[in-house]
Amino acid sequence: MKFFIDTANLKEIREAADLGILDGVTTNPSLMAKEGISGTENILNHYKTICSIVDGPVSAEVISTDFAGMVKEGEHLAALHPNIVVKVPMIKEGIKAIKYFSDKGIKTNCTLVFSAGQALLAAKAGATMVSPFLGRIDDSGWDGVQLIEQIVHIYRTYNYKTEVLAASIRSGLHIIRCAEAGADIATCPLSSITALFNHPLTDIGLEKFLADYKKVNG
Ligand code: G3P
Repeated sequence: MKFFIDTANLKEIREAADLGILDGVTTNPSLMAKEGISGTENILNHYKTICSIVDGPVSAEVISTDFAGMVKEGEHLAALHPNIVVKVPMIKEGIKAIKYFSDKGIKTNCTLVFSAGQALLAAKAGATMVSPFLGRIDDSGWDGVQLIEQIVHIYRTYNYKTEVLAASIRSGLHIIRCAEAGADIATCPLSSITALFNHPLTDIGLEKFLADYKKVNG
């Protein structure tokens, strides 16, 4: 299972990359705004900086909602760096754009996916990745992991190459449940990744090993 970090914060991206287990990055307009990144030039430079930190796919989202606009923006983004994946919203124009990009060999991430039907459309259009937002589904009283299971089952049944990128992760447990469900990728806040380190028996065990060593070695 691949681990992506879901942020535009360079400090967090560097920290996750330093762990040696980071496979890629996803961003979205809200995450860019949270870091105060505004203006086309600054936004494009920020993507380039992220690509220089992480050697793996970096999702950069279009903000156009019409086919022509998405194509123009996506081609511009894709030209920034070979690792850029054009993130396209799950709308009719988006599916048309994903098909266009797929035919041209440009990688895509179909975002804002909340149902198996939407995931099926994304796969048929040739999306490289599909992003079901499980945390937001949980927030609204439905079972996000169940959707991941459903999409994985459909994709495996028909041998679709689209990777299931579990997004909107809220906890370490979410990552584990997505791994059990067979998600190809989880994109997570840094806190959810580092939560996987924690177990009290590890801390207690290490403390005892070190104390026992000290007893005989001083
Ligand atoms: O990047 C897309 C997704 O991961 C957003 O997550 O926490 O805003 O629901 P969240």
